[in-house]
Amino acid sequence: MEIKFADRMNHFKDGIFTVLNEKKRELIKEGKKVYDFSVGTPDFVPEKASMEALLEAAHDPAKFKYAIADIPELTEAVIGWYKRRYGVDLEADEITSVNGSQEGLAHIGLTLFNPDDVCLVPAPCYPIFEIGPFLSGAHIEYYHLKEENNYELDLDSIPEDIAYKAKAILVSYPANPVSAAVRPEFYPKLIAWAKKYNVIVIHDNAYSEMTFDGYEGTSFLAFEGAKEVGVEFNSLSKAYNLTGARISFCIGNKQIISEFKKLRSQIDYGVFLPVQYAAVAALNSPMDNIINNREEYRRRREVLSKEFGEAGWPVKLSTGSMFMWTRIPEKYKSSNDFVMDLMEKTGVIVTPGSAFGEDGEGYARLALTHSVEEIKEAAKAIKESGIFSK
Ligand SMILES: Cc1ncc(COP(=O)(O)O)c(C=O)c1O
Repeated sequence: MEIKFADRMNHFKDGIFTVLNEKKRELIKEGKKVYDFSVGTPDFVPEKASMEALLEAAHDPAKFKYAIADIPELTEAVIGWYKRRYGVDLEADEITSVNGSQEGLAHIGLTLFNPDDVCLVPAPCYPIFEIGPFLSGAHIEYYHLKEENNYELDLDSIPEDIAYKAKAILVSYPANPVSAAVRPEFYPKLIAWAKKYNVIVIHDNAYSEMTFDGYEGTSFLAFEGAKEVGVEFNSLSKAYNLTGARISFCIGNKQIISEFKKLRSQIDYGVFLPVQYAAVAALNSPMDNIINNREEYRRRREVLSKEFGEAGWPVKLSTGSMFMWTRIPEKYKSSNDFVMDLMEKTGVIVTPGSAFGEDGEGYARLALTHSVEEIKEAAKAIKESGIFSK
């Protein structure tokens, strides 16, 4: 039988991480030491209280039933966290859990876009920012994040006709992959712009706990008028090292949350209850681990920038997220070529910038998922390979 797939499938290529992973396996088989800075999975452990809460819940057969909705303790924990951490007051009907921000971003567009409605997304961007609206049939327009602007969205660079046409804009700081945070003054400007052009803001706040050099993580919802214009995704994946548990929240505008919940009830039965209990325990834990992990990320990025720099590859210091984003040597035709050569010659694996769209070409992303000692070893491997010598 000839199976004819949907045209939308032509939009997708084999994931870069699959390609890198295959190559990594080959290198390991050859006995080569590899240093994988490609995937953004923290190497830190979850809160102990979180693991214990999950285990306890998993001993109760009733907790294996469909969850259907968020348990009240979870909603309360989110309300408490937003108040303590960001000074934001929330009500229960402004919150819904999602099975990770990735899933939430993949589906929220289905509540917002009719075919060909315009969605503005950053370039370069974390891929689901573009794929989510695309799956909803939206027409994508890019706004370009520029190194010379510290990757801050320049609202004046969006042409007026596009701003008037746009139904929603995806914004995310601290930003992946460009590893930049913004100053708080950014958000009131964004909200005023959204009101002027009647554009819904979808803010992804995966990295508010990872900011450096005087930048403070905050919430889009901490600014006046935010709830009128949009919602924020906030994931426990990175802040609480729960990437595999798949829990995050969509928070903000009541109407959007209500419609999103209506949509979700058609396709999902809620987050697995033991995971909900694990999230409650995480959110109610003291912030010590978050603070310690931030310090460790800060140390790693400083060591990486210094050691890789001395090995011949200047890596720019990031201001936010768990990544570093930097230029590749000019001698390479593409970031893909560079990544493959680097991997082959040094065992160091990074993500080519082109994985985040055309605007990422010429750059590479490094995840801060190795200890300081391993970063130093990786730098030594780079130095010894001579790959950066002219
Ligand atoms: C900006 C951004 N948003 C969302 C996610 C995915 O979060 P989650 O694990 O909650 O799906 C990531 C993961 O790397 C990310 O970098």
